[in-house]
Amino acid sequence: MSETFYITTAIDYVNGAPHLGHAYEKVITDVIARSRRSLGREVFFLTGLDEHGQKVQQAAAAEGRDPQAYCDDLAVAWKAMAARLDLTHDDFIRTTEERHRSTVQTLLAKLHREGRFTTGTYEGWYSYKEETFLTEKDRLPDGTFPAVYGDVTPLTERNYFFPLREHQEWLIQHLEDHPEFIQPDFRRNEVLGFLRSETLEDLCISRPKSRLSWGITLPFDTDYVTYVWFDALTNYISVPAARGDPGITGILGLPGIAGAPSLWPAVHVIGKDILKFHAVYWPIMLRVAGIPLPRQILAHGWWQKDGQKLSKSTGNVVDPMAVIDEWGVDAFRYYVTRELDLGADGNWTDAGFAARYQAELANGLGNLVNRSLKMLVSYRAGRVPRPSGDLQAEARAAVQATREAYDGFRLQGALQATWELVTRANKFVEETAPFKMAKDPAKAARLDEVLYALVETCRILAVMLWPVIPGTSARIYQQLGLETAPDRWVSTEWGGLAEGHAVREPQALFPRKDLAKP
Ligand code: MSP
Repeated sequence: MSETFYITTAIDYVNGAPHLGHAYEKVITDVIARSRRSLGREVFFLTGLDEHGQKVQQAAAAEGRDPQAYCDDLAVAWKAMAARLDLTHDDFIRTTEERHRSTVQTLLAKLHREGRFTTGTYEGWYSYKEETFLTEKDRLPDGTFPAVYGDVTPLTERNYFFPLREHQEWLIQHLEDHPEFIQPDFRRNEVLGFLRSETLEDLCISRPKSRLSWGITLPFDTDYVTYVWFDALTNYISVPAARGDPGITGILGLPGIAGAPSLWPAVHVIGKDILKFHAVYWPIMLRVAGIPLPRQILAHGWWQKDGQKLSKSTGNVVDPMAVIDEWGVDAFRYYVTRELDLGADGNWTDAGFAARYQAELANGLGNLVNRSLKMLVSYRAGRVPRPSGDLQAEARAAVQATREAYDGFRLQGALQATWELVTRANKFVEETAPFKMAKDPAKAARLDEVLYALVETCRILAVMLWPVIPGTSARIYQQLGLETAPDRWVSTEWGGLAEGHAVREPQALFPRKDLAKP
């Protein structure tokens, strides 16, 4: 099994602009990737775009454009978002890239050769809007189909199918034997419940080109393109394949690359709405192809705003770029990571965001760093005194608890554990009142101890916070006069600041905002 910690996000549909939900998923995945790197692991972080399908074909046509050119333009905006969010992805896959197309076709050809697909004629109802076949079960009591499906038309169509039924038992067994495979537990139980109570239908894997041309051609029938999931899910292996991962190339019969990294299997971070595809279809596709199953699937919750679904049509949206313009990227990263436990749904309120910014970032962390450095500059000309041990035990406990939380993907818990130290250190300032001590020469030695404890705590906090607010961590290190980056967990060891080291004049990390502003 690969030593690299390979982590992926869902690949976003390219139609439309990125919103809070997309940004959230990418940020938490980045936090996990950074935390593993900080802890010394080799990490490979993949994100990207899902560019095929009817919606893209229609959106491009509506603008009178070629779908590839349409995707190329939108991809620029999505990649800009990734950069703006400070993501540390190692690759960005677009499903219209040749390296992806060739892996999808290789996989399909292999499964076809091995007799894994069947053909069948579908006769029923079709929703163009949702690109899905509907059955009588989908009708409302009044006989119509729900409005989300738009115009529903009768359709008779021959397609290729992937039978899933025969895989149900081993998949149930796998979920039972590997409780960590799907996290959080309540999501795993949902999948298990579904698998135990329903019989898996054959998965339709094709669309005739006469109806949908914007897709990857089936290598064994050029009248068809492959439909959604065989295309989208395969991104997780097409990047390892293109990079020569021997665990994938060997199985798919692709050319090897000497010294290529072993990436697969991955940890997939996805939203709860696409859990079934990742936890049921994807493992079956992999198993049938002879590829090891994913390491883990982490299903996050969904955001609403002000208790309502995010929706462009009603204007109930949060534009991550606008929030970042106003508050800074770290405030955004902090809020979304701190607000939700992985798996839980969230509710964005502007007031809640501003309150956390003010209380936790500006008055909590920002104030601690600012006053600790200010006092050192004022009372000791910015020179670090001899190491002392105040706050050392508290720092060690917080480091330990934060690390355990990161290990268990409890990102909210990690921030809570870190903030115990922020709060404790701010309290320590009130308790020891260094500003009073500074007036009394007899207390000089004690003041040295207090000042050391404070600046060293700030330094350790910078390291602990790097996965979530990397820019702020780097600024704390700069203000501490350190040349290195706060990106190594080992530097949480107490005593990193040496006696005599010179810090800089502090600058506000989180400028206070006028909350009265409408
Ligand atoms: N293209 C598919 C995924 C293919 S993965 C092989 C897709 N795209 S999407 O753009 O609709 O969604 C991308 C991700 O964003 C999904 O994981 C989805 O759950 C997440 N979110 C979309 N809206 C969301 C919220 N309102 N809140 C949180 N995450 C949400 O599905």
